[in-house]
Amino acid sequence: TPSSDDITAIIAAHSGLEGPLLPMLHALQDAFGFVPQTAHAPICDALNISKAELHGVISFYHDFRDAPAGRHVVKICRAEACQAMGGAALAESVLAKLGLDWHGTTRNGAITIEPVYCLGLCACAPAAMVDDRVVGRVDAAKLDKFLAEAGA
Ligand code: FES
Repeated sequence: TPSSDDITAIIAAHSGLEGPLLPMLHALQDAFGFVPQTAHAPICDALNISKAELHGVISFYHDFRDAPAGRHVVKICRAEACQAMGGAALAESVLAKLGLDWHGTTRNGAITIEPVYCLGLCACAPAAMVDDRVVGRVDAAKLDKFLAEAGA
C-alpha cells in the first residue's frame, strides 16, 4: 500500500507547477501503478479543488486507474474506425466472457481490460494493445489465445 509520506512527497513535488494536477496524477500512478484513494483529499487540499472536480478529471482521462492493474493489461480500441470494424462487438464479448466491466480485473489478478481511444492503427482495425504490444486486426480467436496464455 502506498505510504502517506510518499503520497505527500509526490503532491508537494508537483504543487508548484503550472497546471499541476495532471503531472501529479501521472506521478502518483507511475509510483504506485494507480492513483490511490487516500491521495484524493491531500490533492484537493493542495490544489484547492473540490472532490467532484478531481473525480471529473480522473474519470475523463482513461489512463488513470483507481486500483492496481492485473498482471496483464489488454486495451481495446473504442474509437470510431475500430468500432466500425467490429471492435465494439469484440469488446463486448471479451468483457462478457470475463465477467468484467471496462477497467475491471479478473478475480485471479491475471488481466485488466481497459478502453483506449485510437492506437493509430486504424488501417488495421480493430486494434488492441496487449501489455506493450500493439495488435491489429484483432479477432476473438487472437484475443482468446492471449487470454488463455495469460491465465484469465
Ligand atoms: Fe482504433 Fe484508430 S480507431 S486504432
